[in-house]
Amino acid sequence: MENLYRIPEHVAVIMDGNGRWAKRRGLPRVYGHREGAKRVEEIIEVAKEAGIKWLSVFAFSTENWGRPKEEVDAIMSLLVEYINKKVPYLVENDIRLRFMGRIEELPEMIKASVKEGEKATANCSSMNFVVALNYSGKAEIIDAVNRLLKEGKKEISEEEFKNYFYIPQMPDPDLLIRTSGEERISNFMLWQMAYTEFYFTETLWPDFSREEFLKALYEYQSRERRFGKVLSI
Ligand code: IPE
Ligand code: IPE
Ligand code: MG
Repeated sequence: MENLYRIPEHVAVIMDGNGRWAKRRGLPRVYGHREGAKRVEEIIEVAKEAGIKWLSVFAFSTENWGRPKEEVDAIMSLLVEYINKKVPYLVENDIRLRFMGRIEELPEMIKASVKEGEKATANCSSMNFVVALNYSGKAEIIDAVNRLLKEGKKEISEEEFKNYFYIPQMPDPDLLIRTSGEERISNFMLWQMAYTEFYFTETLWPDFSREEFLKALYEYQSRERRFGKVLSI
């Protein structure tokens, strides 16, 4: 851990490959989601130990409604179960739970857990754990634009525009990790990832360990972030 200088402030994760993990074992996809949920706590732990202030995970996209109903229902039940079970752990570890996405469109059962979880951890401040639920980057931008149109705004700056996002205080991700070998953004934080460093690994999410997370952090530390500037001439 002592090599961990230059710690990213915000690490975003696209937790992908649950279905393939299950398929390889001849199991229904939902087993992969269940196993994947278990990895989340380990990653929260290692992120907190490393001093990361914001950890965000993509749990369910607006496009994921297009999956078979049994799978969607199973994911929704797992989410409720997971949130309810994890809140005491988050409170104990001073971690604030937040959600981003079109939360109001979710089933009542989930909305209740979301509200409870946010309320119970509202005073926690060591780290923020953000769950993207019914989230899409395009939808976030459109929701922001519609809100500012409603307010009668005629013109806006980039800085001001950010205030209309789901979590205005959230800094842009420094590092994005995507598991399972897919190398795409799949409608995650489109605006916020303008200068994010991307890390892809073949490992499927249910196999993603603390060590793999640290590997991604080391890789991040070796990157030279230029933001369009010339750093050395
Ligand atoms: C990620 O795993 C979890 C969700 C999208 C909810 P997948 O379910 O996408 O797993 P693969 O990509 O089909 O293996
Ligand atoms: C992205 O994974 C969304 C989540 C991890 C929740 P998908 O599996 O839905 O993305 P695609 O379909 O491979 O692009
Ligand atoms: Mg997938």
